[in-house]
Amino acid sequence: MLERIEKIEAEASAAIGSAAGTAELEQLRVHHLGRKAELTSILRGIAELPGEERGAVGGAANRARKALEELLERRAAELDAAELEQRLAGDTVDVTLPGAPARPAGHLHLITRTTRQIEDVMIGLGYRVVEGPEVEHDYYNFTALNHPPGHPARMLQDTFYVQSHPEVLLRTHTSPVQIRAMETQQPPIFVIVPGKVYRRDSDATHSPMFHQVEGLAIGEGITLADLQGTLEEMLRAIFGPGREARMRPHFFPFTEPSVEFDVSCFQCEGGGELAGGERCNLCKGQGWIEVGGAGMVDPNVLGFVAGNGYDPERVQGFAFGMGVERIAMLRHAVPDLRRFFDNDVRMLEQFS
Ligand code: DAH
Repeated sequence: MLERIEKIEAEASAAIGSAAGTAELEQLRVHHLGRKAELTSILRGIAELPGEERGAVGGAANRARKALEELLERRAAELDAAELEQRLAGDTVDVTLPGAPARPAGHLHLITRTTRQIEDVMIGLGYRVVEGPEVEHDYYNFTALNHPPGHPARMLQDTFYVQSHPEVLLRTHTSPVQIRAMETQQPPIFVIVPGKVYRRDSDATHSPMFHQVEGLAIGEGITLADLQGTLEEMLRAIFGPGREARMRPHFFPFTEPSVEFDVSCFQCEGGGELAGGERCNLCKGQGWIEVGGAGMVDPNVLGFVAGNGYDPERVQGFAFGMGVERIAMLRHAVPDLRRFFDNDVRMLEQFS
């Protein structure tokens, strides 16, 4: 009997030691220690054994049972740990794999991209980006920008007014933010103002809503030469390193002197002719392309914010403004401005 118990323990130990999984281990437990197991029936039958055998057999059987129970426990812990390890290893996610299924990513609208490109170069020159309201007061849009009463730009065909409040309108340019910025910051001030503007106008080169970028630089000793240098730096960042800036006399109520500024044509390099000798279609043979308006800020305009340190006798500076759509159209040969706002992705995704 003692030999049998030894043999059972040896066999069961070997089987438990090599069990490959927790399920197999449970089967072994039932088989070797369960109700129908041989060892269990030996333990159950001890009382019927002759007296002199009981002690030795009972002791051996109980030791064997205890040893197997301990072994089962240890092996179960080992297998649990191994199985957890395996599950974790199988669970790892390669976060560098592309999403499945891969989805097309969107991109910024060309108008946003062009605006940000202009902001970037101006931030590089020390300017700060500021914004203002699109629903504006007549005072900021016109009066404080030195538009005398009855100026044609105030006439209804250009401007969207709020019917119930004729002094409230949709701003026709970003220039009112010049006044708002100067009201909140004393000189010196260097700001760039992107934003939407509105005019009652619609054709291939006009839309009732479009975008402008405005620049304003006021301080002591700022001159028209600074404007020339600033425009050149900006235009080179937008149109390419070889570009030149040119100013032509013009009129705006809020600048004196006023200019329109041009960039040398980036298609014909300013010569007005293409390689084959034909006239450059982009600049119409002129060699120059009109970009926007600018000038030295009129002392009358500074007078409206003189209370905040803008004494026209002490500080002066320049302002400029330009249309973003126009720049994007020129650079990317887009024939109709309204296509920017049709939201046809076949058109928009060409500019990713
Ligand atoms: N606000 C003008 C327009 O919309 C553009 C402009 C001209 C802006 C001269 C300026 C400037 O800041 O100095 O036509």
